[in-house]
Amino acid sequence: MKLWSGRFESNTDELVDELNASIGFDIRLYSEDIEGSIAHATMLGAQGIISAEDVEQIREGLLAIREDIAAGRLSFTRETEDIHMSVETELTRRIGDAGKRLHTARSRNDQVALDFRLHMKRRALELRGLLLDLEETLLHLAENGRDIIMPAYTHLQRAQPTTFGHYMMAYANMFRRDILRLEDCVERMDESPLGSGALTGTTHPIDRKAVAEALGFARITQNSIDGVSDRDYALELLSTLSILMMHMSRFSEEIILWCSWEFHFVELDDAYSTGSSIMPQKKNPDIAELVRGKTGRVYGDLMSLLTVMKGLPLAYNKDMQEDKEPLFDAFDTALRCLPVFRAMLETMRLRPENMRRAAGEGFINATDCADWLVGRGMPFRDAYTVTGKLVHYCIEKGKTLEELYLEEYKEFSEIFDEGIYEAICLENCVAARRVAGGPAAEAVEDQIAYIRAFLDERKEKQE
Ligand code: ARG
Repeated sequence: MKLWSGRFESNTDELVDELNASIGFDIRLYSEDIEGSIAHATMLGAQGIISAEDVEQIREGLLAIREDIAAGRLSFTRETEDIHMSVETELTRRIGDAGKRLHTARSRNDQVALDFRLHMKRRALELRGLLLDLEETLLHLAENGRDIIMPAYTHLQRAQPTTFGHYMMAYANMFRRDILRLEDCVERMDESPLGSGALTGTTHPIDRKAVAEALGFARITQNSIDGVSDRDYALELLSTLSILMMHMSRFSEEIILWCSWEFHFVELDDAYSTGSSIMPQKKNPDIAELVRGKTGRVYGDLMSLLTVMKGLPLAYNKDMQEDKEPLFDAFDTALRCLPVFRAMLETMRLRPENMRRAAGEGFINATDCADWLVGRGMPFRDAYTVTGKLVHYCIEKGKTLEELYLEEYKEFSEIFDEGIYEAICLENCVAARRVAGGPAAEAVEDQIAYIRAFLDERKEKQE
């Protein structure tokens, strides 16, 4: 019999039960549901709304149920619809009347909002831990790659020289912002909605703050209608996860390019690549491709919930039951991708000789040539034109800037002297970019130190 069957004359259609039930996926909230119920019951007891004996029975009963679910001894059917009614029904079956008192001053609407927030806070912190690990890997790669010269690209055309270490620190900063975004979401969602009731609170003298404190929330939500209607935190997390996946996807795209024969900047470890069923020579970057592909599904999760929410009048509407699967899916996806992605990076072999060779072609020191002329007093626009003509000449002759004779240089400007060779040597081009944020070894050192401090600060907090 349904907990809410009192007002009804006959049973719901079986197909309705199937559509209505969320136990198939909200079973994941069982632990938070039980913690929330224990905190709620304890508060009801402290406020004299239910007796101390009832509280004790409820507590014992719920803890036993939690153990049974965890051990796989207890499972639920759609008969009891969702996790909230499943646990309550089972509790009442076990302890009788005390179980029926648990839902005093509470609605499933504030209950589900509470469970969802608690659960998502935890998953967000789990994800943050993995991101901190990924940052460690990137720092390691950056330290090893500080002196490895490679071309940096715009429009996927070789643009200017940089180092592999500098490149890795670009990603380290992207993931640093992902960590900050996650922390920011958690900070904002750290409010207990319990006590909002169905939508306008309760007439019982409850203590919302005590429940919030017992459950480790920083604050309580400020308005009961908002408390049960708000899913901003879910959307913020989905946005954050989408951006994170986008970062991993861009990185994946680079890895895919880099391990092609055309680039051959890196080689993936056998453990993190796959073969072809027909082409014996193939070694494919499937992991990177899957991460890139799964990014689409996380975007889908975000779009799905944004669309669910857009037309809902306040307060709770059953549409909101559709909030869980997208968020579960997005977290599952990100949590599954991150460790494999990290391991793939950690085990890939760098091919510095190929990076250096690619940097030697494509005139990526042309800006440095122009800058050298500027240093000798030529206005930048003129220096730019002279260098452009030089590059054109090189292409016709099949030479690099390094290979031109001084006489050839002088054809284009009398200003040129031996100093130009030093200025266009790639190692010098990189070393000269000492500007904060640039690729010179000491600038990259500073960038590494910045992220190191960022990580240390967080590790200290975790301890
Ligand atoms: N299973 C529901 C959900 O996930 C719980 C809240 C149900 N509330 C209600 N008034 N039907 O949203």
